[in-house]
Amino acid sequence: MNVIKMFDILEEIPAIADTMLCHDVAEEFRALPAVCGFAVLDKGHPTGVIARDDLLIRLASQYGHAVYGKRPIRELMNNNPLVAEIREDLDEVERRIADGYSHALSSGFIIVEDGEYLGMGTALSLVRKNVERTRLRNQQLEKTTEEARHANVVKSQFLASMSHELRTPMNVIIGFAELITSQAFGPVNPPRYLEYADDILDSGRHLLTLINDILDMSKIEAGRFQLENQPIDINTLAANATKMCRSMAAQKNIELLFDAEPSRVVLIGDERALKQILLNLISNGLKYTSEGGRVLVQISQNAAGGVTIRVIDNGIGIAEEDLEKVLEPFMQAKNQKDNKTEGTGLGLSIVKALADLHEATLKVESVIDEGTTVHLNFPPVRVQVQANVA
Ligand SMILES: Nc1ncnc2c1ncn2[C@@H]1O[C@H](COP(=O)(O)OP(=O)(O)OP(=O)(O)O)[C@@H](O)[C@H]1O
Ligand SMILES: [Mg+2]
Repeated sequence: MNVIKMFDILEEIPAIADTMLCHDVAEEFRALPAVCGFAVLDKGHPTGVIARDDLLIRLASQYGHAVYGKRPIRELMNNNPLVAEIREDLDEVERRIADGYSHALSSGFIIVEDGEYLGMGTALSLVRKNVERTRLRNQQLEKTTEEARHANVVKSQFLASMSHELRTPMNVIIGFAELITSQAFGPVNPPRYLEYADDILDSGRHLLTLINDILDMSKIEAGRFQLENQPIDINTLAANATKMCRSMAAQKNIELLFDAEPSRVVLIGDERALKQILLNLISNGLKYTSEGGRVLVQISQNAAGGVTIRVIDNGIGIAEEDLEKVLEPFMQAKNQKDNKTEGTGLGLSIVKALADLHEATLKVESVIDEGTTVHLNFPPVRVQVQANVA
């Protein structure tokens, strides 16, 4: 596609014989003012090229006409002409000009078919074709980008409606599994069925979390996630999210700490989204920190007047080359492969997408085997009231 061959720029200019006198060649140039160079042929085969400027300047110089006027053109021609085959690519010819045939910029170059002279090509026609090709390529690129964008929106819309449809039956499965495991209507017999019901409940809950994550991610990607902005006491919200993760921390004997400045910080944001951001970050901290480790949730006002949330752990860390990758949906770092935890790779990409909707910036800093700090900076426009309380 978009390959330009020499026949696209061929100019059928008559060639001249190498025996033609310089004076007569100059006359030819004067008769054809648009021609910048002639091919010179010896018995029909190209042996040289003569540039208009070279010849006319030489003849116009003192004694030039007297010395060269009656000499054959072969004495003044450039006998190392650039000869291009009619099926040669424009790119290849351009490369050859750059690699040692710079004189072709003024004289032009010879175009042949199987060695037979056909006409000339000029640097100007190469440039024109290149400009035209670049314009066409840009148009195609814009079209392809638009198609890809549209396909992505269609995919996200499909995923959003599919996961929405899956939620209802999933809730029914979970509800009945809960009913069976609670043995509300009497003991389950034989007891082994109770174990199976427990498994159904666990798997059902896991699947529902996954479906909800996919639903959120695809809604955001399809531009259908609307923030319900309201003033939120971020310290309280973060303290509650930390509390919700206490039992998970206790299971791994991880010290889970919360630290916030005493001032009351009110953030304008979507409560459910902010809670999800915090839960995803804290659960990552706990998931990727070994037994006996430490996870700290910190809220502070930043120098710009905004609010910074940090979740700091001293866990397994993320390799530098994975730092950007982990923010993309379904992407996991290498560390995850050795770590026997479950995960889909959606948590951080949801955090990133929800942070973007709040105009907040997300930064992940990490050192392998030392730990990870995720910083979320909310801009000052999102901070409404900062009244000190005792
Ligand atoms: N605090 C952390 N310490 C070390 N690695 C982390 C941390 N947080 C995230 N990662 C790496 O980034 C990857 C992506 O995280 P993300 O939360 O998106 O997915 P996940 O935890 O694998 O699955 P889930 O969708 O259940 O959250 C993880 O698989 C892990 O490799
Ligand atoms: Mg996660």
